[in-house]
Amino acid sequence: MKVAVACDHGGFPLKQIVLAAVKAAGHQPLDLGTNGLERVDYPDFARKVGAAIKAGQADRGVLICGSGAGAAIAANKIRGIYASVCHDTYSAHQAVEHDAMNVLCLGARIIGPEVARELVTAFLAAAYLDTGNYARRVNQIHQMEAAL
Ligand code: RB5
Repeated sequence: MKVAVACDHGGFPLKQIVLAAVKAAGHQPLDLGTNGLERVDYPDFARKVGAAIKAGQADRGVLICGSGAGAAIAANKIRGIYASVCHDTYSAHQAVEHDAMNVLCLGARIIGPEVARELVTAFLAAAYLDTGNYARRVNQIHQMEAAL
């Protein structure tokens, strides 16, 4: 898989860890910045990841900010992007399997490098189950996206 990775200044301390974890899991990272600790705005980086997925340049994304929350809120404003903060490995794979999450959001002020590695690994190893109750609920989300 191609995986778009981006962060703001708050998430920058974890970006290299995430890029390496994507590669270690056998996938291809696409580094969309930011590239230092200079203050930037996380919605800009959420847009970059969302645009890469929508353009087919990436299959999934990882966004890193200070808490993960701002990145997730911004990313979820983009149609076709289903993002969540997951700071435990169960959620990192279950949100893909049940909810079709395609962008994992992490908070570099909350978790450390080892947890980040495990979360990225769990996220990328998971596949959406696309059946039964899961598919019905995800379809409901798609309908909300189209109507609201
Ligand atoms: C930046 O200071 C911080 O607000 C941002 O990284 C993020 O935590 C927002 O949710």
